[in-house]
Amino acid sequence: MVLPGSVEGSIAIAGHEFEVWPKATRVEDWVEPTVKVVQFSDAERIRPGLVARALDLEHDEILSQAIGGIAGSRKIYHLDRWKCPEADLIDARAKALFKRVVGAETAAVDLSWANIYRRGDYCLPHGHVRATAAVVYFLDLGNDRQVGPGHGQFCFADPRLKICCQREAHAMTTPCGPTVENGTMIIFPGKLVHFVDTYRDPGTRITVSWNINAVAIPGDPLE
Ligand SMILES: [Fe+2]
Repeated sequence: MVLPGSVEGSIAIAGHEFEVWPKATRVEDWVEPTVKVVQFSDAERIRPGLVARALDLEHDEILSQAIGGIAGSRKIYHLDRWKCPEADLIDARAKALFKRVVGAETAAVDLSWANIYRRGDYCLPHGHVRATAAVVYFLDLGNDRQVGPGHGQFCFADPRLKICCQREAHAMTTPCGPTVENGTMIIFPGKLVHFVDTYRDPGTRITVSWNINAVAIPGDPLE
C-alpha cells in the first residue's frame, strides 16, 4: 500500500499501517562517514511481534541453524520467508536505507538472517562476502543494556577507520562502534571488519543482518 506522500509505501501490522520510511526518519553519519545510523521511532511497536517470531522460528529445521566457529550464535535465515509482517517491514527498511545511502535505484538482498545471542555467544572479526553494503538492525539488546566488554557490543576493528587507530595511523588499537539501542539500523561497506563481543548477560540479544547489492549476484550465498 502507498500512503499519500510516502514513496516506499506501508505495511499493515495488526490493523495498523506502518510506513516503510516514516517522514521524520533521518540517516545520520557516525563519526566515520562510511557508517550511517538510523533510529526508527516506532521500533517498540514492532519489537514484540518480531522477537516472538524469531524465537518461534528458532526451532524451524529449514530456516534456523546453530553456527559455531567464527560466529558462535544461532542464525535464522531468509527474513522474507518468515511470513511475518514485522519482518517484511524491517526488510523493506533495510532495502530503502541501502538505496538512500548507495544512491541506487534498486536493492537486491543476497542474504538476510537474524542472530540470536545467549550467554557465551559471540561473533569473531569478519567482513561480509557478496555484499556492497551490510545492514544490521538492533532488534532487542536484552534486559541488561550495559556497554563494554562482556555485553555483546557491536564493534568495528578495521585499520581503514581512523577511529579504530587512535594511537598510530593504520594500527588498529581501538575497537569501537556506534551507540545503538532497540530500533537502531546501521549500514556500512560490507568489507569493513567488525565483530560482536561475547554476550555474557542473561536473556537474549537479537539482531538482524542483511547483505545487499544493487543487482542480484548469481549463486547461493549459503553454499
Ligand atoms: Fe557481520
